[in-house]
Amino acid sequence: MSIDHLAPQTLARRAAAEAAVALVKPGMTLGLGTGDTAAHAIRALAARKLPGLRCVATSSRSAALARELGLPLFELDDLAPPADLAAEQPIDLTIDGADEVDAELQLVKGGGGALLFEKLVAQASRRMVVIADEDKVVARIGDKRALPIEIVCFGARHTVQRIAFLPAVASAALRPLADGSAPFLTDSGHYIVDATLRTGHPAGPLHHALKLLLGVVETGLFCHEASLAYIGQPDGTVRTLSRAAR
Ligand code: A5P
Repeated sequence: MSIDHLAPQTLARRAAAEAAVALVKPGMTLGLGTGDTAAHAIRALAARKLPGLRCVATSSRSAALARELGLPLFELDDLAPPADLAAEQPIDLTIDGADEVDAELQLVKGGGGALLFEKLVAQASRRMVVIADEDKVVARIGDKRALPIEIVCFGARHTVQRIAFLPAVASAALRPLADGSAPFLTDSGHYIVDATLRTGHPAGPLHHALKLLLGVVETGLFCHEASLAYIGQPDGTVRTLSRAAR
């Protein structure tokens, strides 16, 4: 398809993805994100044909795309974890999308249901770069989209109710499959709860409050992982949001 026929959002996402992939050097170990924007990055990465890359995917979908494009895939556990607290994480760079990003680079993730593997890979990375279009940029986390929360299937209705009782949560519901036939299942065999948030509740304390609830596996709040975001524009330019690396 000629570039003239691509939707503005596609052009913006592709510009952000290409900017992030330009950071990749031969021999790097990379985390591959999940979602439409991350898929642009995986394609741009494969097109560069850099030698010596090692890639860790954050979902079965991203693994399938990377495999199809010939990128060398590894499991997270193929990489040695840091030997002590001062040692560096094994992944050089993770490039991933987001559902929301605020000015402090706090993120909401999990719109594609991959938040648990995305966070495991992001926290095993020395650097996480977010790629997004302007629609993802928000003044406050929770402004535009529900917060995805991964929960165990057993007793799910009870866990949903515990989440809904939190003061920061306006409503919470199990995510259904697209055809509504059953709840959506993550790659780990868990359910996702989508929680709409009330304003005025900071992301960090909300993440910790959710993590204390029985049945919750992980939240889609990424408060500290990202140090740089590339926000693509339909004209192919990219603006940068950044903060000091962790
Ligand atoms: C996947 O679980 C998500 O965290 C995605 O990274 C996020 O939903 C962004 O996806 P899109 O690029 O498809 O909007």
